[in-house]
Amino acid sequence: MSAGLPDIDPALLQKRIDELALITEAAPPVVTRVLFSDAVLHARDYVHKLCLEAGLKVRIDAVGNMFARWTGSAPDEPAVATGSHIDAIPNAGKYDGVVGVLGGLTAIEALQEADFRPMRSIELVVFTAEEPTRFGIGCLGSRMLAGAIPLEKVRALRDPEGRSLDELRARAGLDGPLESVALPKNHYASFAELHIEQGPLLEQENLPIGIVQSIAGPSAYRVRIQGEGGHAGAVLMPGRHDASLAASELALAVEKAARESGSPDTVATTGKWEIFPNAINSVPFEAWLEIDLRDTTMETRDRALMLMREASHEIAARRGVTIEWKEINADPPADGDPRTMKIVEDVALRLDLATRRMVSRAYHDSLFMARVCPTTMIFIPCRKGYSHRPEEFSDPAHIAAGARVLAGTLARLSHEPL
Ligand code: GLV
Ligand code: MN
Ligand code: MN
Repeated sequence: MSAGLPDIDPALLQKRIDELALITEAAPPVVTRVLFSDAVLHARDYVHKLCLEAGLKVRIDAVGNMFARWTGSAPDEPAVATGSHIDAIPNAGKYDGVVGVLGGLTAIEALQEADFRPMRSIELVVFTAEEPTRFGIGCLGSRMLAGAIPLEKVRALRDPEGRSLDELRARAGLDGPLESVALPKNHYASFAELHIEQGPLLEQENLPIGIVQSIAGPSAYRVRIQGEGGHAGAVLMPGRHDASLAASELALAVEKAARESGSPDTVATTGKWEIFPNAINSVPFEAWLEIDLRDTTMETRDRALMLMREASHEIAARRGVTIEWKEINADPPADGDPRTMKIVEDVALRLDLATRRMVSRAYHDSLFMARVCPTTMIFIPCRKGYSHRPEEFSDPAHIAAGARVLAGTLARLSHEPL
């Protein structure tokens, strides 16, 4: 205990991160844990067991979100929550999400060991499917907790093998109506998520703590391009309606639109492609693209989207193909809560940890928790900003410092008047 705040054992936290990283669909050190895979279910069991050992009361909802509660002296008051995710995209590293889950649990245990008594209960949340890998939509668990997705849309989700959420959650032993997932009003008093930065700024500026003042708004589109196929030798060039080439032009137009939106914060990526029949000697008759478009302001994101849609019409007309767009999600940005941010700043100051405020360009469950209650995020540095790749790395001392700031923040949020 120093500065009146409990210590975090960096070695214990690192040991847990390393153990969890071994529960993966890929060969370690690669971490892959896709929604409802055995790996993600075993990883959740691993965290579940630690939560029970810490004396927390655990509940798992109908979509697999897990809640582990340390009941406070005012159990009917809205709880203070922390947490993140343990699913991982294919070929990922071991820190994204995990630092917020195991760091959150270790922060709670440190408060317990320091004989802290919560007034509002403190709850660790392990969110289902922050990553969009299986169903194409990110933050599924927190999105449903916030009631931010119509249940018809949830029921219509299909994975690449055509399986529905209901089918897969039954296999994972989850039942109960999806209607029960959305949280009632005033369920939480506040939410703070610890996460690696996934960008290079904290490392470059040699700062241990970032405080997230806004999260860029993500949107995603699935685009189908239908042209005309044929024999690669026999169909002469003037008669072609090549779906793959139309898709290629569209991807370049997507890049141009993001550059010309009027904001340096607009980013667009065409990261997923499917071409049919995908044979060297056949003119592609159909292509599917998935486009990820994000921005810190809706105005410039909308402008970029308009430029993309205009280019899409022009390409379709000129090449004689049809291009259909389907929106997967279009979420507004979220702001950090000023009071919560100030508490994080005060706690870090007491620990002699320098901070800066920053924008999160990646999305997080906090994007949706910000709709449920006052929210902020605590960022820690990661080497070279690497994330979503096996080389992801954060220094154990930085992780422990982040967990310590989180512990101090949860303690204050548990007791202070709202
Ligand atoms: C979340 O992982 C994102 O893509 O921002
Ligand atoms: Mn991620
Ligand atoms: Mn994450």
